[in-house]
Amino acid sequence: MSVREFDVANEADYDFAAVERRLGVSRRTFLNFCTGIAASFGLGTKSAMAMAAAIANPARPPVIWLHGQECTGPTESLLRSEQPSFEHLILDLISLDYHQTLDAGAGHRVEEVKHEAMKKHKGKYLLVIEGAIPLAQNGIFCKTGGQTMMEATREAAEGAAAIVAFGSCASWGGVQSAAPNPTGAVGAPQFLTDKTVVTIPGCPPNPANFLGTVLYFVTYGKLPPIDEKGRPKWAYGQLIHENCYRRPHFDAGRFATQFGDDGHRKGWCLYKLGCKGPETYNNCPSLEFNNLGGGVWPIGVGHPCFGCSEQGTGFNKPMFSLADVKTHTPPNVFPIIPDRQNPASSTVVASAAVAGVAVGVMIGAAAVAGKKLGDKDEQAKAEPGKGA
Ligand code: SF4
Ligand code: F3S
Repeated sequence: MSVREFDVANEADYDFAAVERRLGVSRRTFLNFCTGIAASFGLGTKSAMAMAAAIANPARPPVIWLHGQECTGPTESLLRSEQPSFEHLILDLISLDYHQTLDAGAGHRVEEVKHEAMKKHKGKYLLVIEGAIPLAQNGIFCKTGGQTMMEATREAAEGAAAIVAFGSCASWGGVQSAAPNPTGAVGAPQFLTDKTVVTIPGCPPNPANFLGTVLYFVTYGKLPPIDEKGRPKWAYGQLIHENCYRRPHFDAGRFATQFGDDGHRKGWCLYKLGCKGPETYNNCPSLEFNNLGGGVWPIGVGHPCFGCSEQGTGFNKPMFSLADVKTHTPPNVFPIIPDRQNPASSTVVASAAVAGVAVGVMIGAAAVAGKKLGDKDEQAKAEPGKGA
C-alpha cells in the first residue's frame, strides 16, 4: 500500500458530510479528534488532515481478525468504548472481513469467506491477532474450523500487509503463558519470528491505542514506529510511574501499606501494596478507561497496577512482590492530584502538568475533547442559537 496522496487545500479530497452521517459527530468534533491523534504521533496539521482524509475515504483496508487463547477482552474493550465511539470509528475505518466473535455467521461458510478474502486481498490486508498461540503438542489446545491457531496464524500472516497483536495474550502470551504454561502458549511475535508484529499489550488493552495504530496504518500504509518489544512508541514510551498522579506521594515517602488503611483512604502511593507501575510501560494514567476520564483505571480506583501489559511482570510477578524502580529521580513536573470528593479543589503539584505529556495525553485529550464537543453538538441541536 502506498502513502496516500492528499491535498490539504482541496477539501474535495474528502467528504465531511459523509463522515458526519457515518460517525454521528460534527465536522468540528471530527477534525479536533484527528488533530489530537496526529499530535499524539508528534505530527502536524497536514498529517491531521491526511488522517481525516483516510477516515473519510470510503475505500477501507480489509482486516482478518483471529482469536487464539484468550477471554475476548480486547474485542470487549473495543466494543464497550464510548463517544467518540472508537468501536464505531474503527469498524467504519476498516472492512472487517473475518472476526470470529463479531461474524454473524458460523461454520464452514465463514471459513470459506476468510480464505476467499485472504486470496482476494493478498498482500493488502491487515491481520489482527487476539489471544495467545499454544505450541505444545502441535497446537491442539486451540482449534477453529479444523485449523490449529498455529496453522491459522501462519497462513494468515503470509499474505498480510501488516500484523498487529492486540492484547497481552497476543503480544507475549499473557495469562496463558504464566508458569507452568501447560499449553506452551506464546505471543504472535514469538511465533512469527520472521515477521514484524506490532504489539498493543494490555489486559485489556486500551482501544485508543489500537485506534491510533490502525489510523496511522490506514493513513500512511505502514505501521507506526515501535520499540524493541514491538510496541508503538507513542503509546508505550513511558513508565506508568512517570505519569501517575500518586507519584508525589511516592517521592514524599507516603505509602498505603494495607487496603483500607489511612494512607489508602487518603490516596497515597500504592508501591508497598505491590504496584508495578515503576516497571510497566503504558499510557493508562493519561488515557484511563471507560469513557476516557473520571479516574477509572486500576490505580485511579485504588488498586495497584499489576503490570498487565508488561512481559515478565503481569501474571508472573506476584502481587505481594515489590516492583523494580527504574526511575528514582522525581520528574520536573507532576500531574494533577484529583480530589475525588471535591473535584473543584484538585491540586496541581509542583511545576504541574504531566511530565510525560507526550502522546497518550494528546490522544486522550483529543478523545475527551471529542466527547465534550459531541456533547455540545447535542446541546446545540437541542438549543438552536447556542453554538458549540
Ligand atoms: Fe503510582 Fe504505583 Fe508509582 Fe505509586 S508506585 S506512584 S501508585 S505508579
Ligand atoms: Fe494494566 Fe497497570 Fe494499566 S494493570 S491497565 S498496565 S495500570
